[in-house]
Amino acid sequence: MSETLETLPSTDRKVPQHVAIIMDGNGRWARKQGLPRIEGHRRGAESVKRALNAARDFGVRYLTLYAFSVENWNRPKEEVDGLMKLLERFLVDQHKELMKRKIRLRVVGRYRELPVRIQELLQRAEADTSDFKDQTLALALNYGSRTEVVDAMQAIARAAQAGTLDPEKLDYETLRSYLYTKDMPDPDLVIRTSGEYRLSNFLMLQAAYAEIYTTSVFWPEFTEAHFKAALDDYAARERRYGKTAEQLQNA
Ligand code: IPE
Ligand code: IPE
Ligand code: MG
Repeated sequence: MSETLETLPSTDRKVPQHVAIIMDGNGRWARKQGLPRIEGHRRGAESVKRALNAARDFGVRYLTLYAFSVENWNRPKEEVDGLMKLLERFLVDQHKELMKRKIRLRVVGRYRELPVRIQELLQRAEADTSDFKDQTLALALNYGSRTEVVDAMQAIARAAQAGTLDPEKLDYETLRSYLYTKDMPDPDLVIRTSGEYRLSNFLMLQAAYAEIYTTSVFWPEFTEAHFKAALDDYAARERRYGKTAEQLQNA
């Protein structure tokens, strides 16, 4: 690394193209304040807006947010209903904003199992923003990596049965084209808040070579400054993809 590059602010040097966030800790944040869990989720929606601004300001083109996992249906009905209400409100509020700021919205997950009203809002937002190229917001909703692989495998098996796909030619690129994330690059950086160190069924194939950053901050308290700290940490990493450090220096 040359001296000039070292003296530049780190984010100018190595900005991840795609950041994916496991937004965790809403419930614990609320509990700490003596508030109901749903209040944590409400405050979490504010952090989503901050993260979207931060992504734009720091030049991150793809932001994927884990908002609801396939496993989250197992929470108390009252909490699930509350989350769906907040999601609906978020989508109504943000439609104009996404249009104005030219942000493309994508949904990753089995969205046909979501409430119909939310499906309609998502479809409309996806359609209205589909031509925007500069920034993409992907919402992982009713998402699970294992479900995603099962859905891909079913489609692949159907294509093989119909004779449009040769099983002998099946490679990772083909499998990749059947994932919900087919039109997005893999995440470079995965952030998890609230001090947990697990993937919880999130982008397990796509994050195969992602850098992982965890912070003890609960999601409702996550600000632009925390986002920046994660990007700075990322900028100092060396991604080797199986090679040696010497090989990379000589490249
Ligand atoms: C993340 O916060 C939001 C969702 C999973 C929907 P949590 O609700 O998981 O918060 P904790 O982990 O219970 O604190
Ligand atoms: C992961 O958080 C899912 C989302 C952030 C939407 P969870 O809180 O559901 O994960 P676990 O259960 O702690 O692994
Ligand atoms: Mg949690």
